[in-house]
Amino acid sequence: MRFSLVLLVAFAAAAAANEEILPSLRGMQAIRIMADTEEKLNLVKSYEGVPGFDFIKLTANLQEPVNVLVTAEQATFFKSVLERNEIDYNVYVNNVLEKVEEEKIAMELARNLPPLEKFAGRSFTFTSFPRYNVIVSYLQDIVKSYSNVATLLDIGTSYEGRTIYAIKISSGSNNPAILIDAGIHAREWAAPVTSLYVINELVENPDLYANVDWYIIPTLNPDGYEYTFTTYRLWRKTRSVTAGSTCLGVDGNRNFELQWMLTGASSSPCSDTYAGKAPFSEVETQALRNFVLANKDSIKLYLTYHSYGNYILYPWGYTSDLPDDEPELRSLAEAADDAIASLYGTRYTIGSSTNVLYAAAGGSDDWVKGIGGVELSYTIELPGGGWFGFDLPASRIIPVGAETFESIKVFGKYIAQKFGSTRN
Ligand code: ARG
Ligand code: ZN
Repeated sequence: MRFSLVLLVAFAAAAAANEEILPSLRGMQAIRIMADTEEKLNLVKSYEGVPGFDFIKLTANLQEPVNVLVTAEQATFFKSVLERNEIDYNVYVNNVLEKVEEEKIAMELARNLPPLEKFAGRSFTFTSFPRYNVIVSYLQDIVKSYSNVATLLDIGTSYEGRTIYAIKISSGSNNPAILIDAGIHAREWAAPVTSLYVINELVENPDLYANVDWYIIPTLNPDGYEYTFTTYRLWRKTRSVTAGSTCLGVDGNRNFELQWMLTGASSSPCSDTYAGKAPFSEVETQALRNFVLANKDSIKLYLTYHSYGNYILYPWGYTSDLPDDEPELRSLAEAADDAIASLYGTRYTIGSSTNVLYAAAGGSDDWVKGIGGVELSYTIELPGGGWFGFDLPASRIIPVGAETFESIKVFGKYIAQKFGSTRN
């Protein structure tokens, strides 16, 4: 009895010491800032990495606003800094927690909405954002229903032990391949669900896999993704433990080994852009690396789905220098953008990620091109919506999926033509 009490007390103390402290969403504000000079923008950016600040939208373009989430404790002070420096801003969310709770309620309601006819009877019907287990059963259903073309591959296991799946859609011949992943950033909910939508459309359109094989990894960071549902909506990173820190997780998109940690990444474990203790420290990034290397000869195009902001980005993220094949990267992106716009008019910004967004080394797109040998490599920042950007309203899942699929057709045809056999 006494012994177990001592143990219990010791355990409680250890638990307290190891407690992960996350910025409270209660009273957190979303602030949109118009910094119209380089100087003002730099001042705003100087708060990057400061505890309590989360720059959810940042670009190199002075014409575009910066969106930042600021905790209640920091908000008053930060707004006074903006005012003193005559930087325009407006608060578009007063209390992020309230919006997160509204999102939850809206999702509960949406889950029970009648599905579109074409999804009726499926294990997932695209009315709300799927949990990991729903993603898995959806994939299993697809491979069951389309067993002649779809197979499920286990490409690795997450830190907490979840299987990372890829689905392969192929007619079986020796075709060039396109690889798509989603969800390396946990909170970007639009990404996994859009990849599921793409899977659905692909299996139903044999033309698109006649000359191209497709590999789709709907949730590359399942631990982080689940954590956004169970505990903390704004979680971005993996969920690995860092020795010597109470902060968990690594930014998967800073963890790839090409000019790792050169720029735009943090060595502080508590930062949202923590690059890890070494390149490929994360089992999730290892899984992608190993998969790409194992299929190096066939993969000709790579897309990684993120959100938000409507960008089609290509390398490099570590330098403002452009790759030699930038004209091809750009013109294919333009064709994809036109196809997307043809449906509902949605437009994307196109460019190298350093030049149109910000410099950040260690991204999957850079590694896949630079080391993985896949010349056509893109980060797709899907549309936002909702209050703070990552909270795309569930009612937008199908329209975003549908317009995104228009770009998939363009990518598929391009790869079939460029790398396919002479068959038509
Ligand atoms: N928003 C993405 C991120 O911060 C953009 C990545 C672009 N690619 C890159 N290699 N920096 O991870
Ligand atoms: Zn992202």
